[in-house]
Amino acid sequence: MLVYSPPHPLIKHWLAILRSNFTPPPMFRSACAELGRLLIYEAMREFQPTMEQQVETPLGAIADATICDPDQPIKVIPILRAGLVLLEQAQQVLPFHQTYHVGYVRDPATLQATAYLNKLPAKLAPTDLFLITDPMLATGGTIVIEDIVARGGRAENIRVVAVVVAPPALKKLADKFPGLKIYTAMIDEQVDERGYIVPGLGDAGDRAYG
Ligand code: PRP
Repeated sequence: MLVYSPPHPLIKHWLAILRSNFTPPPMFRSACAELGRLLIYEAMREFQPTMEQQVETPLGAIADATICDPDQPIKVIPILRAGLVLLEQAQQVLPFHQTYHVGYVRDPATLQATAYLNKLPAKLAPTDLFLITDPMLATGGTIVIEDIVARGGRAENIRVVAVVVAPPALKKLADKFPGLKIYTAMIDEQVDERGYIVPGLGDAGDRAYG
C-alpha cells in the first residue's frame, strides 16, 4: 500500500489552519477545500485516464492534445459528512466524474461504524476507477473499500484522499488492501480512546458543519 504525503508548503499551510482550535467553520471548510484540491490533483497523476486528440487553435493551426477520457469517469465517493467538502473540489477538478454518496456513523463506545446511506450501485466493474474523499482515517472502520470490492471493484483502482491519517487505519488497510493508494497531508501519531486522531483536527464533521 502506498501512503503519499506531498512535501508542499501550501499543503502544510492549510493543514496548520485546519489543526488550529481557533479556526471557525467557514474557514475550516475553505481550508479543507484548498488542501483537498491539492491532494486530489496529486492523486490523479498517473490515475486519470486520458486520450490523444488534435485540436484546431484560433490561428488555424492543428495541435496535438491530451484530454481526459469521457468514457472513464472517476467514481467519486464522499464519506458523509466531512467528505462533502472534498467532494466539491473533486467535482471541480475532474472533467468527467460520477458521485456515489456514502454515510457512516460511529458508535462512540465501540467505535464500530455502520452505514446510514449507501448510494453505491449493486454491481461495479473491475475497470472502474474510484476516488474516496474522507478527511480522516482514524481506526479505518468507516472506510468503504470492503464494500467496493464486494461489489466487483478492485482495491488497486481506488485512490483515497484524506487530510490526516493515523497508524491504526493504515495498518488495517495495508493488511487487507496492499494495492491501495492514499494521499494525505500528514500521518499523525495516534488515535485516542475516543477514536480521535491525535494531534488531529478534532471532529471534522462538527468543525465543518457545526
Ligand atoms: C469521521 C471522519 C471519518 C471517520 C474516521 O467521521 O470523517 O469518516 O470519523 O473514523 P474511522 O477511521 O475510525 O472509521 P465522523 O464519524 O465524525 O462523521 P461526520 O463526518 O458525520 O461527523
